[in-house]
Amino acid sequence: MKAVAVFPKSREVRVLEDAPEPKLRSPTQVRVRTLEVGVCGTDKEIVDFRYGTPPEGEDYLIVGHEALGEVVEVGAQVQGLKPGDLVVPRVRRPCPHERCPACRHGYPDFCITGDYTERGIVKAHGFCAQFFVEEVTYLHKVPSALRQVAVLTEPLTIAEKALREVEHLKERLPWEQKPGKAVVLGSGPVGLLGAMVLLRAGYGTTVYSRSPKPNPKAEVAEALGAPYLSSKEVSVEELGKRAGPVDVVYEAAGASKAAFDVLRVLGPNGMFVFTGVPGRKEPLELDGAALLKQMVLQNQVVLGTVNAADMDFDAALEDLERFRTRWPGRLERIITARHSPEEFQQVVSGKLGGIKHVITFG
Ligand code: BGC
Repeated sequence: MKAVAVFPKSREVRVLEDAPEPKLRSPTQVRVRTLEVGVCGTDKEIVDFRYGTPPEGEDYLIVGHEALGEVVEVGAQVQGLKPGDLVVPRVRRPCPHERCPACRHGYPDFCITGDYTERGIVKAHGFCAQFFVEEVTYLHKVPSALRQVAVLTEPLTIAEKALREVEHLKERLPWEQKPGKAVVLGSGPVGLLGAMVLLRAGYGTTVYSRSPKPNPKAEVAEALGAPYLSSKEVSVEELGKRAGPVDVVYEAAGASKAAFDVLRVLGPNGMFVFTGVPGRKEPLELDGAALLKQMVLQNQVVLGTVNAADMDFDAALEDLERFRTRWPGRLERIITARHSPEEFQQVVSGKLGGIKHVITFG
């Protein structure tokens, strides 16, 4: 079958025409025909050979972790799925160690050993191939009405997990009845989907990102009802004045300098959620004492979050339906273009601009 793969040793990215087609190996597995695979910053890191590991004993990794597929075959013990159903797979699989309570309790996103696998990223082939096989427990059924946008489910789960944690932490502020104000840092897909989740939860949300207006990301943000401010035109201090007092910062830019700058304008009792993994590793100078003083004297929370749990996928699928009703056509606008697998390298280079690019297997 056709598959897009990276070969880290020889530093190659190739479209394989003859990758072995995966077969059902247990009665609880499902064979899926891939429809679409989203491309993200993590894929860029992988093709730049800064991240990503092939499965043990293999010299290549099939990429792709944001997938939508159609069930073609189910094992004898599979319940709740049948051929023709649309599905979205989760990304991370638990580590094998007894001593990891998170993985043993079904929360590999909180794995403490680091021996988890992630499809398309860490020691397990991904979904950027004509077919994949997966245990039914890692698949989420997708309503057919979401066919055009369900490839956004996985990036949306990042925001769902972040919001779930923010809501949980808000229990320390029992007098706070209203959601408050949020700033989304970055306007890529994870940022814009984060803005949608925050708006849905009732936060007055401002998007703060690099590119000046007009641009497609600003257009989507403002059509949602979130003012868009460019960091080239509006200083962090001004952002604090216009968007504050900031109760939540949802960081989705993966840029450490911008993130620590914005941390300075987090409001009293505020929460700052990091979701981006910085690609560039430029050293950063910051006034640590001033930041610590601010954080302590204002009861602030700084939280990092990665990956997502089973329930976040369910929440994402429910939200996609809500978003389609509340903002008709907007999710579709996040998907800039669809491409053939042969165009993967061009897509992942980031030179095409736009918001989310998707590979299709027609
Ligand atoms: C994926 C996550 C994954 C993380 C770290 C992100 O791009 O969306 O599922 O856990 O990369 O590998």
